[in-house]
Formats: sequence, C-alpha cells, structure tokens
Amino acid sequence: MAGAGDDGPRIVFLGAPGSGKGTQAALLAEHLGVPAISTGEMLRDAVAQGSLLGERVREVMARGELVADDLMAEVVEERLARGDARRGFLLDGYPRTAKQAETLAAILERSSKRLDHVISIEVPEEKLIERALLRQRADDTGEVIRARLRVYREKTAPLIDHYRKQRLLRTVDGERSVSEVQSEIFRILE
Ligand code: AP5
Repeated sequence: MAGAGDDGPRIVFLGAPGSGKGTQAALLAEHLGVPAISTGEMLRDAVAQGSLLGERVREVMARGELVADDLMAEVVEERLARGDARRGFLLDGYPRTAKQAETLAAILERSSKRLDHVISIEVPEEKLIERALLRQRADDTGEVIRARLRVYREKTAPLIDHYRKQRLLRTVDGERSVSEVQSEIFRILE
C-alpha cells in the first residue's frame, strides 16, 4: 500500500449517506498518514462558526440538498492546495455530481496528479436509514435523511459508472462491521 513517503495515494470515497465513508476514510487516513477531507464536516464546521460560507450553506444542508457546485469547487480547491494534501488525500463526500467530478479532474490535471482509487461503499437503503436515525445529527431527521438519499440516487450514484469506466472503481460491501469493512478496504489497496 502506498504510504505518506510516496506520492499518493489520492482516493475518493463514494457512498450514500450513512454508508460509513466518513468512518472508513478516517481509519484509512490514519494508517496512510494522509488527510481525510470530509466536505460535509468542513461545511458543518463553517455553519457552527457562523462564517460567511456557513451562512451560505446552512439552509441547503438543513434540507438535505447539495451545496452549489461552484461554491464547492472553491472550498475543495482551496483545501487541496494546502500543504498536507500535496502528497495525497482521501476525499469523503466529494465529488457528488458529474460537474464536481469534472472539477476534481481539472484540479488534479493542473498539478499533473491523478486519482488512484474510487472506493464505493454499498449498503441497502433500510440499513442506511437505521444508522442515521441512531446517530441523531442535526440533518438526521427522517425527512431529511430521505431527501439526502434521493439526492444521492439522482446525482451521485451515476458517478459509480463514471469511475467504473475509468477503471478506478472498487466496490465494498458496507453492511458488515466497521473492522470487516476496514480489512476489505486495506486488502483492496494492497
Ligand atoms: P456529509 O457529511 O458528507 O453527509 P452524508 O453523505 O450524508 O454522509 P454521512 O456523514 O451521513 O455518512 P457517511 O457515509 O460518512 O457515514 P458515517 O461514517 O458517518 O454531507 C452533509 C451535507 O453537506 C450534505 O447533505 C450536503 O448538503 C453537504 N455537502 C457535503 N459535501 C457536499 C458536496 N460535495 N457537494 C454539495 N453538498 C455537499 O457513518 C454513519 C453512521 O453509521 C455512524 O453513526 C457510524 O458510526 C455508523 N457506521 C459506520 N460504519 C458502520 C458499520 N460498518 N456498521 C455499523 N454502523 C456503522
């Protein structure tokens, strides 16, 4: 597996809300010594701090909808330019639309980098709702979870095919325990 001393890895985690991508990205990041960049967490922090960005995204997030692609492009480009992401990163929650996938490809191309893997964590919908309800985050009410799942199906799930065609896709059964999913991801990346 490539480590922090090498150039890379650059990995995208795809998956529906509650699939465990945040959990797995954090575990893998610690192992590899590269940052796990969660756009959802960055936006929640911005809302909590009451920053200008937070004000712009607060209502959209509360409805379970996606923040505009242009705004996300600014957020992600700025984050990936920071020193800790230069040698590799794990992206959790970005890209989420075809336009965002284009933006990411363009950012990487400008610095002559490329993605190494896209890991799609797959979990049946009823399980996702169960997990999110247990967690009780502000955007984890039944109605908002269903909105986020609908947005995932319509706008993000098509990226699975997009990355499969690029031969970057690795799918993982996310219905198992956290440690079993983690082992499977480590095995795939060996
Ligand atoms: P974001 O934070 O990315 O939310 P999400 O996609 O809905 O993802 P979650 O954090 O709900 O789930 P996860 O897959 O990370 O699972 P987790 O590990 O937490 O985004 C929030 C919002 O920000 C979006 O709705 C949107 O408005 C906005 N946004 C973010 N990025 C954007 C973008 N690129 N473009 C536009 N808008 C954007 O696990 C879930 C729970 O399950 C936890 O309690 C965990 O402990 C548990 N769990 C995890 N794995 C397992 C397992 N194997 N078995 C049992 N339980 C498990």
